[in-house]
Amino acid sequence: MQLEGSIQLSGDKSISHRLLMYAAITKGKSILHNLSFCDDVLSTIEVLRACNIKIDINSERVEIHGGSLKMPSQKLNMGNSGTSARLILGLLVGQNISAQIIGDKSLSKRPMFRVIKPMLEAGATIKSNNGFLPIEIISGITKPIIYNKKTKSAQVKSSLMFASLGNKSYSKIFYDLSTRNHSENFLRYMGNKINVDDHLEVNSYLKLNPFETSIPGDFSNASFIIAAALIIPKSNIKIKKILYNKSRNGFLDVLERMGANIKVENIQSNYGEEHCDILVKYSPQLKNVIISKNEIIRMIDEIPVLSIVGALSSGELIIDDAGELRYKESDRIKAICVNLKNMGADIVEKENGFTLKGQNKLYDTTIIDFGDHRISMAFHVLKLYLNKSIVDYKSKLANISFPQFNSILGELIK
Ligand code: S3P
Repeated sequence: MQLEGSIQLSGDKSISHRLLMYAAITKGKSILHNLSFCDDVLSTIEVLRACNIKIDINSERVEIHGGSLKMPSQKLNMGNSGTSARLILGLLVGQNISAQIIGDKSLSKRPMFRVIKPMLEAGATIKSNNGFLPIEIISGITKPIIYNKKTKSAQVKSSLMFASLGNKSYSKIFYDLSTRNHSENFLRYMGNKINVDDHLEVNSYLKLNPFETSIPGDFSNASFIIAAALIIPKSNIKIKKILYNKSRNGFLDVLERMGANIKVENIQSNYGEEHCDILVKYSPQLKNVIISKNEIIRMIDEIPVLSIVGALSSGELIIDDAGELRYKESDRIKAICVNLKNMGADIVEKENGFTLKGQNKLYDTTIIDFGDHRISMAFHVLKLYLNKSIVDYKSKLANISFPQFNSILGELIK
């Protein structure tokens, strides 16, 4: 068995959420092609519809009739999606729209105070369950947001940006320059100067015109396919029109340092984002490395699948400064360590990461997915390797971010 062939993936999830939200506050009709239809993005679509935004889906083409956000008559259910919850909270607070926000069991355990606090300080009235969902927005911000914390979270940065867009003021948001930059890339592309050294200056008078664009393929989803091709003998694949953005490419940089046979070609730019084609070949000589702080932020969602590659590579994979992983859809540090240990790997859990000695003999045990889509898909990739044959992916978890996970693997496995 090997992976062979050429594929194209549906649109990046982070960009899909953001462009839907920008379109919702832009007067007129915006059109998106190659939008992701994963469950998380469907949550954003349903919530925007509940706030009076008309969204028409005609297979490949999605039309958003923006500019008429209204107070919803029902609670807004964000499902499993942290990005929807945090960014839409900001969007509604900025537009002074009262609403109640709820989510599933996993989302209800994820911290929201990090975005609520700066909005309270800017005059908003928001009630929460001690910093967790459910949240009730009573009224929006009344003065600029000044956020000095150099946030390492793109969700916090983007939520505060959206909140700033509605208030008649100039907000200042300091942030770590490695965080994913799709929110600001779009505004800059629309002609707004918002980056100032180490902070964003969001001017609520920013002009947003209706737009039409095609969203590049999801890099985080590609990471599972890239990992499978690297570890399964004789594999040779091409992923076309995939997002190519420095703030998301930590996984590629680390794999390059590990000695992976990966080539990036045909880089092109569209609406403030670049995309490229990625060629990946089976790479039997991978060597583990120490992952730097800066790389962690740029590959925060790829750590589960990197741990799979690391378990099969020589030397030690050292991950520190990744404490944020404990606050994702599951405690991902624990989820990675529990499963790899059960399978026979030499892995030691640390407060902010883990140390993994690769190339121990691994056994195909039952995976505990902790209800987390990325844990489920990452370990399925390892199962493919261990079984050396197609293993049917039975979980529904992939639908949260990558509904085509199983069909794409099926298409490539020969
Ligand atoms: C995301 C940002 C990241 C990432 C999440 C998507 C985004 O979260 O883990 O899956 O779209 O902004 P943080 O920025 O909070 O680390």
